[in-house]
Amino acid sequence: MAIKDFTYTGLPARVIFGRGALRQLEAEIDHLGSRRALVLSTPEQRDQAERIADILGPRSAGVFAKAVMHVPIETAREAREVAQQLGADCAVAIGGGSTTGLGKAIALESGLPILAIPTTYAGSEMTPVYGLTENGIKRTGKDIRVLPKTVIYDPELTTTLPLELSITSGMNAIAHAAEGLYAQDGNPVMSLLAEEGIRALAEGLKRLAQAPADLDARADCLYGAWLCSTVLGNVGMALHHKLCHTLGGSFNLPHAPTHTIVLPHAIAYNEQAAPEAAQRILRALGASGSAGGALHDLARSLGAPTTLKALGVSEADLDKATGIALANPYWNPRPIEREAIRGLLQNAFEGNRPA
Ligand SMILES: NC(=O)c1ccc[n+]([C@@H]2O[C@H](COP(=O)([O-])OP(=O)(O)OC[C@H]3O[C@@H](n4cnc5c(N)ncnc54)[C@H](O)[C@@H]3O)[C@@H](O)[C@H]2O)c1
Repeated sequence: MAIKDFTYTGLPARVIFGRGALRQLEAEIDHLGSRRALVLSTPEQRDQAERIADILGPRSAGVFAKAVMHVPIETAREAREVAQQLGADCAVAIGGGSTTGLGKAIALESGLPILAIPTTYAGSEMTPVYGLTENGIKRTGKDIRVLPKTVIYDPELTTTLPLELSITSGMNAIAHAAEGLYAQDGNPVMSLLAEEGIRALAEGLKRLAQAPADLDARADCLYGAWLCSTVLGNVGMALHHKLCHTLGGSFNLPHAPTHTIVLPHAIAYNEQAAPEAAQRILRALGASGSAGGALHDLARSLGAPTTLKALGVSEADLDKATGIALANPYWNPRPIEREAIRGLLQNAFEGNRPA
């Protein structure tokens, strides 16, 4: 294998990883030079957020437990106002991508430092990418100010994540690494992280499926999620992420299951155009044959959803999705061909093993 030419810029990241790492929270707030943290969560994770506020004691400015999917601009504005009224000088986001996303929206306007405590494997915490939804349209952007300054990964906080969401969230993370392996702006460092991230997640998820409370398996998954998230933050994504964005936005589909269902098909689509990426995916999964097929087998063995049909997508929607996916050109290792994309979506609709 000949190393290709590349440019590499590392993003700053302070990561505290470990079982019980949450105990270092106060010290980490001090390390940021902050004194009062606004704790963010979804309504479903309010209890966890209250616990964080208790741990912080006088370092807590309060709890804002209104994070929802896709960061509506109204929620972001309210959170910014609350942060200001309470005199918060940093925010602690405990939860998945939706809560981290709210933290990013606050940071975008105010420059407040964010400390993220991820409890899913979605991976927003390592990226400078933000999303905001206004009048039903989600716009995304990139700004280094939104990148969390510190991330605490504590596997103990993920044991409450339901098994089904753990599995789809883990497949969502694998998708970042898989596409990172053939990124146009890829580099050998990110490829190393991607391969190891896929390996750690696949191993961890298989053990989780047997024993959802296994803390060592949870630690492996969270470690894998960190690596995959780092890849997402450093290199560009392609067909898979574009299709999931299209499907999620147009048909209001759940984020992690959509990624899980589409991934084997998107990777199969690109397999011949990106043979080295396919080899690395296979090596990480300890499989042979086709990388798309191996990802499909992994999803099935984990009992993950494999059909768009089950998410409520209709066959007529597939034509619409194809049109949207082709509307704005973007880079992909294999050219985007209408008929082949329609075929890919049909396979994902039916849950066929990619050829
Ligand atoms: N900007 C980025 O770089 C980036 C990266 C990845 C994802 N995202 C965004 O993140 C969102 C998806 O994030 P997600 O998949 O983490 O879902 P999510 O944050 O919406 O969480 C899903 C549900 O699970 C709950 N939950 C999370 N952790 C839990 C735990 N440990 N125990 C019990 N319940 C728990 C949440 O409270 C929520 O109700 C999407 O909007 C996506 O666009 C953004």
